Amino acid sequence: MTASLGTLGPRIIDLAQRLAAFSDTRDGLSCTYLMPAHRAAASQLAEWMAAAGMTVEIDGVANVVGRYPAAQPDARTVMIGSHYDTVINAGNFDGRLGILTGLVAIEALNAAHRRLPFNIELVAFSEEEGVRFSAPYIGSSAVAGRFDFRLLERRDASGISLGEVISKSGHNPDEIPAIARDPRQLAGYLEVHIEQGPVLLGEGLPVGVVTAIAGAARYSVTVTGEAGHAGTVPMGLRHDAAAAAAEIVLFVERRCSGIPTLVGTVGRLQVPGGAMNVIPGRCELSLDIRAGDDGTRDAAIADVLAEIDLIAKRRGVRIEAKEMQRAPAVACSGRVQSLFADAIGRAGLPVRALPSGAGHDAVQFGHLTDMGMLFVRCGNGGISHSPLETMTAADADVAVHVLLDVLEHFQETR
Ligand code: HGY
Ligand code: MN
Ligand code: MN
Repeated sequence: MTASLGTLGPRIIDLAQRLAAFSDTRDGLSCTYLMPAHRAAASQLAEWMAAAGMTVEIDGVANVVGRYPAAQPDARTVMIGSHYDTVINAGNFDGRLGILTGLVAIEALNAAHRRLPFNIELVAFSEEEGVRFSAPYIGSSAVAGRFDFRLLERRDASGISLGEVISKSGHNPDEIPAIARDPRQLAGYLEVHIEQGPVLLGEGLPVGVVTAIAGAARYSVTVTGEAGHAGTVPMGLRHDAAAAAAEIVLFVERRCSGIPTLVGTVGRLQVPGGAMNVIPGRCELSLDIRAGDDGTRDAAIADVLAEIDLIAKRRGVRIEAKEMQRAPAVACSGRVQSLFADAIGRAGLPVRALPSGAGHDAVQFGHLTDMGMLFVRCGNGGISHSPLETMTAADADVAVHVLLDVLEHFQETR
């Protein structure tokens, strides 16, 4: 059936560009949780989903949920999802590709008056990146019944709490438990996502099958030293918070280098209120450590935390490391991997399986149902989390046809 649906890729690229118009900033794309651009993007997605023949709701944590009913009433549901929030100064496709590929696939089914033996739920998750509240997976954890209610107290840079923001946007945090899906109703979870890396590009492949998703742990670290006059305090008497932070950064880089699938990143590093002629009394930084398995990751974290204690003692500073998030490494379902591999084979393409170093909403569903992901090639060396992120309409077309083929062959296993 899929071949007869014609070329669908250009529409996906076009919709991604239109969705990118909703940004918190005049230049570039930043779409952070429940800011005005985020809410406008949600309305736009709801409109597109309704026009594709779905019943649509925006739920209590601002997921946009479209439902495309099965041919028969008592069917279970295959969920297709990804996120519509972005990092700061993002590319157009991280998260959005998965939503729009699902949307265009359902548009094609609807145009062909096709109903499948299961309902399809297309979910645009509201918060995967964790930019505004340092809390990733707000949308997908609520749908998966794993929402951490302590997050409602977490505050953003302006001091407003997550709970207040949800209430102020017309939702009610008390509704969150009702968002959780009954796992017995879920027949599977599928996510299409840009690879955000160079592997498919390097091998000249448009798509690949994801085998597992790395488990990330994130920390917020505060170094408290002693501010002082940059000209009068002798070097040996200083308790320089930024110099201590610099040692942490270099240790993370050393400890996480040379070990397969292990990566460590300090993405945020700042001296609040710093000045050129003042010895930093305080320095704030973030840690993001992840690996293909939790054991490798947790061993690295233990070493980094131990080194932080030694640096604190050696430099006479206080260092607090607060865990902000921890997601387990999750294997993708063998059955869904085979479904994707068979569909790629039927498209006449080589099948390439690869792990994901990036986290995805899919990690919330690996324990609940058959979860699988399809990676799509990125251009520009595979760069992502950057306005240089790019992909082609031709690859989007391969992805949507592979997704449709998987849906055609997705036989239910009870
Ligand atoms: O950080 C990640 O892996 C994802 O982009 N949120
Ligand atoms: Mn991302
Ligand atoms: Mn993403």
